[in-house]
Amino acid sequence: MPQQTQAAYYTEFGGIDKINVGPLDLPEVGEGEVLLRVKAAGINPVDYIVREGHFQAVVPNAFPAVPGWDVAGVVEKCGHGASRFAEGAEVYGYVRRPVVQHGTFAERLVVPECYLAARPEKLTWEEAGGLPLAGLTAYQSVITAGQLKASETVLILGASGGVGGTAIQLAKNVGATVIAVASAGSAAHMKELGADFTIDYKAGPVGEAVKKVAPDGVDLLFDAVSGDTLTQSLGALKPNGRLISVLNDGKALNLGPGVRFQHVMAQPSVPDLDHLRDLADAGKLQVPVAQTFALADVKKAFEQIETKHTTGKVVIVP
Ligand SMILES: NC(=O)c1ccc[n+]([C@@H]2O[C@H](COP(=O)([O-])OP(=O)(O)OC[C@H]3O[C@@H](n4cnc5c(N)ncnc54)[C@H](OP(=O)(O)O)[C@@H]3O)[C@@H](O)[C@H]2O)c1
Repeated sequence: MPQQTQAAYYTEFGGIDKINVGPLDLPEVGEGEVLLRVKAAGINPVDYIVREGHFQAVVPNAFPAVPGWDVAGVVEKCGHGASRFAEGAEVYGYVRRPVVQHGTFAERLVVPECYLAARPEKLTWEEAGGLPLAGLTAYQSVITAGQLKASETVLILGASGGVGGTAIQLAKNVGATVIAVASAGSAAHMKELGADFTIDYKAGPVGEAVKKVAPDGVDLLFDAVSGDTLTQSLGALKPNGRLISVLNDGKALNLGPGVRFQHVMAQPSVPDLDHLRDLADAGKLQVPVAQTFALADVKKAFEQIETKHTTGKVVIVP
């Protein structure tokens, strides 16, 4: 008899009503894999985009599909050749596998160990479970692709969310000046994370507000929102500035010839997870957890992330 786990799952694409919570068979712990006891799993906007069937060209689903790519947990068993972690090791990871099927919104999970790193010791389980996808996205955007430097100014759109809030902190660690854009209600949160200036996107054209605090323009524009807020902000980018977007492909933006554009899609990376862990353990990276939900309340977690106005991270605690 296969072992089973409680899990959130759906058997067809659609809305929140398609989600069930119940027992599912666990696969055998295969070569290079470990069995994890899930302690916390962050929920991200991509989880509902995938569930609605909008991301199949990038990641197909196999049903029943357990959603969730963020995880922090304890290794319970190691498969053949899985030697990086001992049983009992505390790990975290961004488990974006080639097919959405065995996701992290479950009590237990069989996963290739190549997705996992030792978890930050100074973070709670909830914080560690909320870090991987948002943290990797921000790091790979602002630091790896964006090459942000101490003398520079960065404009972050969507700066109160999971990605943008991490981006503020990474940018401040570099020593850059940070202009953070979200609603007025998130201003104190963004300041707490290190933002030098905050702008309310509902208060008027964002680019004009940016020009008041950075008259020469910004060196790097990090877009985690797109839409009107991005369009309004383009005029605040220096003519030879860099634009990194995690949403936009840049084609319809009419960028000046000197602007360097790059779309970033977060990639699983153990070295980057190691780096984020070291920052967190050095007290240089917080993970503000807005809300936690039991696995049985996973629909409520989806409802919150689908508002598109979460300040901090939403985390499922199975
Ligand atoms: N390409 C990739 O690999 C990748 C990876 C991760 C995320 N993403 C995408 O990046 C986006 C952000 O992800 P997330 O996890 O940070 O989402 P999130 O935690 O839900 O945060 C979204 C934030 O955006 C703010 N916001 C909403 N409308 C805004 C606007 N017009 N201008 C400025 N800020 C606005 C909200 O702040 P207020 O409540 O204050 O309005 C909210 O805090 C999502 O669309 C997600 O799909 C892409």
